Amino acid sequence: MGLDFVEEEVARGYSMPKKIINLFNLEELFEKNLPSPIAGYYKSGARDEITLKKNREIFNKYELLPKLLRDVSNIDTSVKVLGQNLKNPIILAPVAMQQMAHEDGEIASAKGASSFGSAMTLSTSSNYSIEEVAGHNENLFFQLYFAKDRSITENMLKKTKEFGYKAIVFTADAPQLGTRERDERNNFKMPDHLSLGNFKGTILEKFDDRDGSAMNMHNEVLFDKSLTFEIIPWIKAVSGLPVLVKGILRPDDASLCFKHEADGVIISNHGGRQLDTATPTLNQIETIRKEIGKDKLLIVDGGIRRGTDIFKCIALGADAVQIGRPVLWGLNYKGKEGVELVLDILLKEFIETMILTGCRNLNEITRDLIREA
Ligand SMILES: Cc1cc2nc3c(=O)[nH]c(=O)nc-3n(C[C@H](O)[C@H](O)[C@H](O)COP(=O)(O)O)c2cc1C
Repeated sequence: MGLDFVEEEVARGYSMPKKIINLFNLEELFEKNLPSPIAGYYKSGARDEITLKKNREIFNKYELLPKLLRDVSNIDTSVKVLGQNLKNPIILAPVAMQQMAHEDGEIASAKGASSFGSAMTLSTSSNYSIEEVAGHNENLFFQLYFAKDRSITENMLKKTKEFGYKAIVFTADAPQLGTRERDERNNFKMPDHLSLGNFKGTILEKFDDRDGSAMNMHNEVLFDKSLTFEIIPWIKAVSGLPVLVKGILRPDDASLCFKHEADGVIISNHGGRQLDTATPTLNQIETIRKEIGKDKLLIVDGGIRRGTDIFKCIALGADAVQIGRPVLWGLNYKGKEGVELVLDILLKEFIETMILTGCRNLNEITRDLIREA
């Protein structure tokens, strides 16, 4: 990155670091450059934020045991997900309201991911709609929050296949939203000039002005507490697409998903935003993989910030990983190019880890390459 660019950014009042080397440098910038209720909404976890912290700390539980002299002159990071060949195992997790980070919001994320052949999941609570984001990435998934009013849910699901989405990511860990105390304190509210693209013309399009976090109103309307595993075949039938169930932390729940026709599961604690003190996700990969067998699709998210983190998830049995907050850091930094920067940094770190551990492809990232510290 040339000096001209730095001067330009400083001129527009953007706080610059000396050099962006890793994702934490972008995180630091993000916190400096966004109004604190918005940065607070994006970064917060539920209650005491214990799960949020543990999601990261848990990566130190494992050490690497590299293999040497394995001819690592050619590295292949590709992976098959739902029959599609993805160039790398990094997927953009569904993250709500991305226009608060950058005006190009979800469209920039979809494009940035596309430059690296990464899949992107559009949140139900996105600013840009299913239609608007369609076509900006070859591998788009749609994340479903299941509205109580089934006609709203049906309406969204029916559009997804028509607009080229490849899968539905059904978020099962949100019968209601977890409480983020920071948002309560800040009376967090999506800015008035923004709207939720998938809810145009409904009560959910804007946030209301009640005291505390305005997410509470959404809680009452958007989330259906009565759902059970039987809803999975319904989602498949209405959308005509494969369904991945997100938020799984237990082997028995993972099994139940597959018994009810799920096409994959995503181990997640919602980035520590739902149930505080829920177990960190890395803990659960091995036991869930053991339960579901080697062929079922298993994805994981939570606290992934380094190439070695991705490596550890795969060594424990994940097929692919998702990143949430880092996408916002990149987006806020420089829209599509910022998202590309996030993926570039992470992929370079991941490839470096593969080279230094003697792995030429994802199949060679095996359990014996890590040990508990
Ligand atoms: C600001 C924010 C908004 C989110 N919005 C959604 C959402 O709309 N739907 C969903 O299923 N998960 C949502 N998540 C959870 C992410 O999909 C993902 O599980 C989590 O961010 C992964 O952890 P990480 O941020 O540490 O990478 C959100 C997370 C954040 C940080």
